[in-house]
Amino acid sequence: MTNNLWYKNAVFYEISVRAFKDSNGDGHGDLRGIAEKLDYLQALGVDCIWIMPIYPSPLKDDGYDIADYYAVDKAFGSLDDLKELIRSAHEHGIRIVMDLVLNHTSDEHPWFQASRSDRNSPYRDYYVWSDTDKKYKDARIIFVDTEHSNWTWDEKTGQYYWHRFYASQPDLNFDNPKVQEEMLQVARFWLDLGIDGFRADAVPYLIEREGSNCENLPETHDYLKKLRSFMDQHYSGRILLCEANQYPEDVRPYFGDGDEFHMGFHFPIMPRIYMALKKGRFEDMAEIMHRTPPIPENCQWCTFLRNHDELTLEMVTPEERQWMWEQYAPEPRMRLNMGIRRRFAPLLDNDRRKMELANSILFTLPGSPIIYYGDEIGMGDNIDLPDRNGVRTPMQWDNSPNAGFSKNTPFSDLVKGAEYERINVAGQINKPDSFFSSVKRMIKYRKAHPAFGGSSMEWVDTGNQAVAVYVREHDGDTVLILNNLSASAETVNIPVKFQKSHLDLFTGQKLNLTDKLTLQPYAYLWLHIQK
Ligand code: NOJ
Repeated sequence: MTNNLWYKNAVFYEISVRAFKDSNGDGHGDLRGIAEKLDYLQALGVDCIWIMPIYPSPLKDDGYDIADYYAVDKAFGSLDDLKELIRSAHEHGIRIVMDLVLNHTSDEHPWFQASRSDRNSPYRDYYVWSDTDKKYKDARIIFVDTEHSNWTWDEKTGQYYWHRFYASQPDLNFDNPKVQEEMLQVARFWLDLGIDGFRADAVPYLIEREGSNCENLPETHDYLKKLRSFMDQHYSGRILLCEANQYPEDVRPYFGDGDEFHMGFHFPIMPRIYMALKKGRFEDMAEIMHRTPPIPENCQWCTFLRNHDELTLEMVTPEERQWMWEQYAPEPRMRLNMGIRRRFAPLLDNDRRKMELANSILFTLPGSPIIYYGDEIGMGDNIDLPDRNGVRTPMQWDNSPNAGFSKNTPFSDLVKGAEYERINVAGQINKPDSFFSSVKRMIKYRKAHPAFGGSSMEWVDTGNQAVAVYVREHDGDTVLILNNLSASAETVNIPVKFQKSHLDLFTGQKLNLTDKLTLQPYAYLWLHIQK
């Protein structure tokens, strides 16, 4: 594992540890459970897993409310289990990154307990306190369905404290050098255990300034650069992945001059893939990709179709949001905050053609793709469960009771209608015609072609807005991708320079392109352009 740029063409896989695999029968998924499933992840072609927070937590935000930065919650196992998981994952050629939540702690963290105990506490200044709740009023509220203000009144000490998420998640004060230093120590602790990097949560919000929207401030970047330089000095080859739900031009500074984040999620392309599939037109996708600025050579975007949160519609216009809700979340309870709390497969009507097509787009865009656990088998959701829990139900391993997730009653209800009896890993893993196998094949061909790891993407004009056609090229390797977004067969004009014979990556056969080509509904083609 010596290639320091490994992340530039890696396939990532996001795991909710609690929901993945229970090794000890207590109903909660755990680190040993993940270790048991490394062969599975390796078979799929995963290069790196991202594990959601495993820190002790009162779970008001599923672990993103941390009560102790230096331990593993007992439900998930121990520090030794983590070390063993990292060792075994590395043996499988798989790296592991974890969540690093810098912006806030739980209100049960001892720092906050001390901070709120007394205005003169040495920890008072670890958090952001104010006599008035009128400060920073240009900062938006993120959890709009539950929070009415970013300030919460503390009765005992008679001041308000600042929080960008739930009131139970007070923001740390990054203007305090001690906080800055503490968080470097936290990073050091996990890096010393062997973790391959961090998915850094909620980074736009570290610093607040009057008169700004308190996002993406220069002082925030200054700190993140310090964190990066600390990692470069002592832990080369480990990465920082940026969670900034922003437009590409606002994410761009998080890459710095290649001296801030290695990777950043590309949030806005995600809803536009779903828009494209519904409209049967690629223009929204093309527009946002054109609007995406180049990034330094040693950086990479991270693309995804779904994750553990609601499908966020923050990076679309209000009209587009309304349209997306109408199209994809007709029932009000499917909506949450600025998004849609549903999984990938049900969003696409469990239609195998659309599910493959969406993945064809995911795996051929610039950037390293992330798969959300269970989406590779087309697992469903349970919208009866509150908040985002409906997309965090137990992984469906087989058709035995509890979906093979646990020997005991799971921490959460499963997807309703005993879906696991029909949709599970065991039923798909060895079947060449399963959805799992089609995802696995895409990963295989993606990895076989350096073109996908590069940054170039050239849209090809074929005279048909229903088919997204583009060329990816890198290191002398070139692929031509065609995705028919429409529910009808569509014909495209093939530019002269492509009117030749090419290798169809999926069939392994030559395909002779003439001046026109017709693609079946939702069909996709990956053609290797031979020199
Ligand atoms: C982003 C995480 O993805 C989300 O799950 C969490 O609620 C917020 N950050 C707050 O940590």
